[in-house]
Amino acid sequence: ALISLRQMLDHAAEQSYGIPAFNVNNLEQMRAIMLAADKTNSPVIVQASAGARKYAGAPFLRHLILAAVEEFPHIPVVMHQDHGTSLGVCQRSIQLGFSSVMMDGSLGEDGKTPMDYDYNMNVTRKVVEIAHACGVSVEGELGCLGSLETGTAGEEDGIGAEGILTKEQMLTDPEEAAQFVRDTQVDALAIACGTSHGAYKFSRPPTGDILAIDRIKAIHQRIPDTHLVMHGSSSVPQDWLAIINEFGGKIPETYGVPVEQIQQGIKYGVRKINIDTDLRLASTGAIRRYLAHHPAEFDPRKYFQASVEAMMEVCINRYEAFGSAGNA
Ligand code: G3H
Ligand code: 13P
Ligand code: ZN
Repeated sequence: ALISLRQMLDHAAEQSYGIPAFNVNNLEQMRAIMLAADKTNSPVIVQASAGARKYAGAPFLRHLILAAVEEFPHIPVVMHQDHGTSLGVCQRSIQLGFSSVMMDGSLGEDGKTPMDYDYNMNVTRKVVEIAHACGVSVEGELGCLGSLETGTAGEEDGIGAEGILTKEQMLTDPEEAAQFVRDTQVDALAIACGTSHGAYKFSRPPTGDILAIDRIKAIHQRIPDTHLVMHGSSSVPQDWLAIINEFGGKIPETYGVPVEQIQQGIKYGVRKINIDTDLRLASTGAIRRYLAHHPAEFDPRKYFQASVEAMMEVCINRYEAFGSAGNA
């Protein structure tokens, strides 16, 4: 059944587990996410980005998710809109039947001016007012996502934070987080704690605390009833990188967030963990390998099946590692 993010994360908080939120763009991802959830008995958060809406179209995405709910009626599903950039975008998703929306005002009205608290607070507050009247949950974002190692915002944020922000500014401030939650009444808050979007998070193998775990702890202490969200949480599996490169790909050396670091975050209040890149890598690796091994094959169902199986394996791993398995 379709449920709200608040409902799903309240249970996760009571039982101290985290839930991966997978981006969905096509049928294969949707099936992989649901088959893995079915196998592990995990609740599901699927999210659609602006890029996904451009690729598949909002009605197709909506019906993909509704089809998943129909085929797996025993699994609770949150249909979430990822990174909404305006009130209008969020309103449209609410109208389409999304049970949760993210209003990301963290980069200002023009999408490239971080730290404009008033803009972020005002637009997010308006989204909450409308969404809550419709029974829809809201995720906000405070802080500027960025890798503490490279000092950059990552590839998908659209701003080069390098040189603009100090490392301290790249971490969400606990006092400001408390103020933001009081001002907006968001259900969940995406925080900056050292993660960044995309495949190029860290250039060296991460050792020790690559995330600001103490900061997560401090934020959670100030806003214990607001569920923390970790964006940019792909682990960038080295085995899939190797397979991609073995079969004709050219991806440079790069590292993601180790699953153990995410588990630390979950211990201190992180409940929603956003993952897109890992499914992209698994899918690409599986298709490259399949086609290399079966050069005469031209039935797309064959290589898409390989893609589904590869993504499913990643999903099962995350459902189990984050503790959502067994909680559907
Ligand atoms: O937050 C970004 C997600 O990875 C979605 O990326 O806009 O390319 O679909 P996208
Ligand atoms: P990754 O790029 O690490 O998969 O993060 C995805 C994300 O945060 C979507 O909102
Ligand atoms: Zn994100």
